[in-house]
Amino acid sequence: MTDIKPSASSDDCAGCTLHNRRDFLLDALRAGAAALAAIGMAPAGADALPLRWISAIAAKGGERTYPIPAADGVQIDKDNEVILARAGKSVYAFALACPHQNTALKWDAGNNRFQCPKHKSKYRPDGTFIEGRATRSMDRYAVRLVDTSVAVDVDKLYQEDTDLAQWQHAVVTLP
Ligand code: FES
Repeated sequence: MTDIKPSASSDDCAGCTLHNRRDFLLDALRAGAAALAAIGMAPAGADALPLRWISAIAAKGGERTYPIPAADGVQIDKDNEVILARAGKSVYAFALACPHQNTALKWDAGNNRFQCPKHKSKYRPDGTFIEGRATRSMDRYAVRLVDTSVAVDVDKLYQEDTDLAQWQHAVVTLP
């Protein structure tokens, strides 16, 4: 019977001091966080996007107007049931209702994602479905840039599964 011995590379930290082991673990954690950030998912507690409550500054027909969010984060207009979210140079407007059974969605800042309190469906900051009972991403309103504002057309709501092209284009790209 052959003895199986660990190769020299199977324990990179063999003989390390406690300090070196700690650095080794920190490097591994940082690498994991960077990998999550690269796919748009920040780990719990890291650079949590803030939540603010807002009201439209103007309403005309089906359009509700909001100032351009000054920084990344999530803003909710309860009166109009609109979620405004900025991620980098992209601004989205979502329906507050979960696309599964219309429960009001909540922002989970600790995990940088939306979550439905009813059946726990989860969505990324751009509304993309992650997991849960819902069968599509969050519904997006048509949006356009008007000077220093974002105009949201609450009469034009696009669903990812039936209006894919409009859903994909329902975003304001800031200069
Ligand atoms: S109502 Fe949101 S997941 Fe069911």
